[in-house]
Amino acid sequence: MDDHQVIYQAAEIIKRGGVVAFPTETVYGLGANAFNPLAVARVFEVKKRPYFDPLIIHVATPGDVKKLVKEILPNAEKLIERFWPGPLTVVLFKEENIPDIVTAGLPTVAIRMPNHPMALSLIQESKCPIAAPSANPFGYLSPTTAEHVREQLDDQVDLILDGGPCPVGVESTIISFLEERPRLLRPGGVSLEEIESLIGKVETNPIEEGRPSAPGMLSKHYAPRTPITLDWNGESLDIYKGKKIGLLAFQETKNHLKFHSVEVLSRKGDLREAAANLFAAIRRMDALDLDLILAEPIPEVGLGRAIMDRLRRASGSI
Ligand code: TXA
Ligand code: MG
Repeated sequence: MDDHQVIYQAAEIIKRGGVVAFPTETVYGLGANAFNPLAVARVFEVKKRPYFDPLIIHVATPGDVKKLVKEILPNAEKLIERFWPGPLTVVLFKEENIPDIVTAGLPTVAIRMPNHPMALSLIQESKCPIAAPSANPFGYLSPTTAEHVREQLDDQVDLILDGGPCPVGVESTIISFLEERPRLLRPGGVSLEEIESLIGKVETNPIEEGRPSAPGMLSKHYAPRTPITLDWNGESLDIYKGKKIGLLAFQETKNHLKFHSVEVLSRKGDLREAAANLFAAIRRMDALDLDLILAEPIPEVGLGRAIMDRLRRASGSI
């Protein structure tokens, strides 16, 4: 089957209330018709995701947002114009017609237009917006290849569309527009610098409240089975003697010999390349039965902010 036929088949599955894994520029998503509560319930079941954690709705054109929200605020409009299709999600007050299961009962909804031809064709052919979380079991690393999805969810999804490796590699940046000032809920594929240069200062402190309203929320997230830590010191590696230790390095390292395995995220120190390699590199290490993964800190600028956020969550240090 060629791509067009597979996408047609995938769209038929979505229309019938099924669940399809599909590529986006960030990570693979696990999609269902956003207006079919039963189909969306299956997404939660497959992921073993708690129902209090809302999903992102994926649209095929910026115009589709109008039907899903009360009002598109001017700053949201600016970001949409500049960054869609792309790794940016906006949170706005929702229209009544969106099923509660999608938004976990919140009065708000998260929406993005992905920048991937297969994702866009799938949404168009399905003739409905697609609610989709990342296509991984809850709490585990997001998949950046179709193979990652197959390894973990193969028998539970109706179809997996293979669009190759995801070029961005970390999830979308989430910005909410519920307060006076826009707020960063999750750093991601569009950098905070790019966003602030367009709309001015964005709130970055997490909201203090009982129930988590963003992904950032749960401390142990994006976590491999192998413990991973950012809290170590190259001078005192002796304390790990006799243990199988992996090194997740940012750039070239001279320390290869000391470790059981080494993954270098970007030899030339490019943050985009590092983000694109991040989850696949951790997955490869996670398959090696290591005792511990030592992660090198990444400069917290541009995409480095999203990478460090994922590493902190993987290490349970948020
Ligand atoms: O790049 C991405 O955003 C990927 C691809 C598949 O599009 N999706 C993704 O979805 O990362 P997920 O479900 O793994 O993370 C979305 C996060 C959720 O953890 C949720 O907390 C947050 O978005 N979210 C969704 N709706 C929200 C809302 N109304 N208010 C605040 N946060 C919301
Ligand atoms: Mg996720």
